[in-house]
Amino acid sequence: MSIFNTASGNPATDVENRLQIEHLLNAATLSASVLAEKSDVIAGLTQTPKYIQARYFYDDYGSQLFEQICDLPEYYLTRTETAILQECAIAISEITGACELVELGSGSSTKTRILLDAYEQLNYPLRYVSIDVSAGILESSAKALLADYPSLQVQALVSTYELALKQLKPTSLPNRVICFIGSSLGNLNPQECKTFFSQITRALQPNEYFLLGIDLHKSKEILEPAYNDSQGVTAAFNLNILKHLNQRFDGNFDLTQFEHLAFYNETKRQIEMHLRSLRSQTITLKDLDLTIELASDETIFTEISRKFDLDSIQQELQSQGLKSIQVWTDANQKFGVLLCRLLH
Ligand code: TRP
Repeated sequence: MSIFNTASGNPATDVENRLQIEHLLNAATLSASVLAEKSDVIAGLTQTPKYIQARYFYDDYGSQLFEQICDLPEYYLTRTETAILQECAIAISEITGACELVELGSGSSTKTRILLDAYEQLNYPLRYVSIDVSAGILESSAKALLADYPSLQVQALVSTYELALKQLKPTSLPNRVICFIGSSLGNLNPQECKTFFSQITRALQPNEYFLLGIDLHKSKEILEPAYNDSQGVTAAFNLNILKHLNQRFDGNFDLTQFEHLAFYNETKRQIEMHLRSLRSQTITLKDLDLTIELASDETIFTEISRKFDLDSIQQELQSQGLKSIQVWTDANQKFGVLLCRLLH
């Protein structure tokens, strides 16, 4: 055998051959989106109450902190969803048959592996399309997956969900499942949620699948600690949004002069995350030509995390043409995983 080996003999080359990375955010889209971002940040910080877009949580440090949140004793969500997926992954793969797996927001892809393992056990071809705005996370998690699954093909799309969903090409496999797990749906307000479902239905062909993970409504006593952990990781995560704005827009937020605040709004069934100003202060973001005043105790709103009810979410999905064909929950009904199918 030659030492100048072929693609299949060389692990590094082999991984390259099975990985396709596409940047959907080109220079034109990017510069348009930088302008849009700037005006969004200005609009948010000058409205009442003040508001910062949640996407600013996720710089490299923020993404690391989020990984830590997922492991916190109080943050039951990741653990519960993982256990449910372990229980139902084989059933999912049996229902969908050979399927291309499309994932919105891949993160460290621990939960993705549970699904890939199930498809692999049934000897189905493995094809994974991951979509994320962060090129670094996409590439490193894709490479880790390719190293562990020798027949896996990965297409990594550096893109917003919206753009990627618009540009998904028909799959060469018999079916497709778009996965949106981790209860990120809860971070969309009802209007955004509706728009998101319509983007999903437009991206799917009839009879293709949508796999959704959602956190369920429960008592304040369980919910509030999940967003106010005793080690202060969630507080650091929330405060990091200010550091990120400082870096991006040459700002001077002093993180020691703000406090993390998270509580459950029972009427709206949502956790609300804020940053409270500990004194009256003036903040300048030079790149935005923006100066704002904060009163003592004034809050900046950063995120909602809605908690769902299985009946109403199924009705909402159905009204958009997505029929939920199977639902799995844990014994305590903390979290739900729904497999839906696009009706004709
Ligand atoms: N999708 C996560 C959730 O709603 C996001 C999240 C967890 C989060 N902890 C947070 C967002 C703290 C802001 C602050 O649970």
